[in-house]
Amino acid sequence: MGGALFSISSALLFVVFVSLSRNVDGKIVQNGGTCDLFEGNWVWDNSYPLYHSSQCPFFEDQFNCERNGRPDKDFMKYKWQPTGCKLPRFNGVEFMRKLKGKRLMFVGDSLSLNQWQSLTCLLHVALPQAKHISYTKDGLSNFTFPEYDVSLLFLRNTFLVDIVSEPRGRVLRLDSISASKIWGGMDVVIFDSWHWWLHSGRKQPWDWVVYGNTTVKDLDRMTAYEKALNTWAKYIDSNVDSTKTQVFFQGVSPDHAGGPGSSEKGCEGQTKPLTSPGSPHPAEHVLEKVLKGMSKHVNLLNITRLSQLRIDGHPSIYGRFKGQKTNDCTHWCLSGVPDIWNEILYAMLA
Ligand SMILES: *[C@@H]1O[C@H](CO)[C@@H](O)[C@H](O)[C@H]1NC(C)=O
Ligand SMILES: *[C@@H]1O[C@H](CO)[C@@H](O)[C@H](O)[C@H]1NC(C)=O
Ligand SMILES: *[C@@H]1O[C@H](CO)[C@@H](O)[C@H](O)[C@H]1NC(C)=O
Repeated sequence: MGGALFSISSALLFVVFVSLSRNVDGKIVQNGGTCDLFEGNWVWDNSYPLYHSSQCPFFEDQFNCERNGRPDKDFMKYKWQPTGCKLPRFNGVEFMRKLKGKRLMFVGDSLSLNQWQSLTCLLHVALPQAKHISYTKDGLSNFTFPEYDVSLLFLRNTFLVDIVSEPRGRVLRLDSISASKIWGGMDVVIFDSWHWWLHSGRKQPWDWVVYGNTTVKDLDRMTAYEKALNTWAKYIDSNVDSTKTQVFFQGVSPDHAGGPGSSEKGCEGQTKPLTSPGSPHPAEHVLEKVLKGMSKHVNLLNITRLSQLRIDGHPSIYGRFKGQKTNDCTHWCLSGVPDIWNEILYAMLA
């Protein structure tokens, strides 16, 4: 009798668990059907945002649109509505239950930083009593909740592959990936890389590019990006233990710079999402091709299309960079779009 009750209740638990959280590559099972989390639209929801930036004094200025004077607020009030199911609302307590005793690391550029800051704030606001310790050292930021034994880390590593100083200058090494020493032991790792591959002129941080026995001043950036991603993929395939480490890749985050010579509208003055995302992003194809060729499973946080719609979500003229005002159509205001990326991450975490 007790045994029968036990198995009925564990079967029920199993069903509840499955219906909330089982997923493969952004597919979520809800009420018996599968649903693609990345296919959907933005809907106005008065219960958003999930926090206000004033609750998170540790935010970087560059994302703090409210503090920088942005007057309109509607951009904070959209939630993502997948076509075939509901995206579960972010639940900090449940997130901590999934992550207890674990270390989660974002590895990448300032778009990674954008998502890491959103996640630290979502959790801080959900668990106001929980103490946190936070510091940045040698390019590694660490935000730890000691009571939960959970660390959320951010490693700034814009190319994923190495860039080193040599007597002949700064060398970008497309087939060397030594930062893997730092992220190698994590329980959850979320990578991103794209924007820095476009930098040229004074913003380009290398003098030489090396791959195999070849040294060049420069090469087609999309080709360089693909070579670097393949180096990363090979490393993951041969070194990551999928039973211990869950690997994610943040899809290419689109910008809305517009401006002279561009057919796109710029983000300045935009207060509403677009109704159509426009053409697919070229870098997205490269990333998808590399991920498809891998033997290990990597979860693509496929945020490109849904973020392309959010022309209203950037800091725009309320951007800041190193204390200076700037027109930023690349990063995202917090609260805002990266909170939704984290709701999707929350839904996909095993
Ligand atoms: C990413 O999402 C878009 C929009 O739903 C879809 O067209 C594309 O195929 C997805 N990519 C992958 C790799 O699933
Ligand atoms: C992060 O900080 C916590 C608390 O100070 C510390 O215990 C942990 O070792 C740090 N993690 C890393 C990867 O540095
Ligand atoms: C690179 O150079 C080394 C030493 O000269 C040589 O043994 C190797 O075959 C070369 N590799 C490629 C891919 O050309």
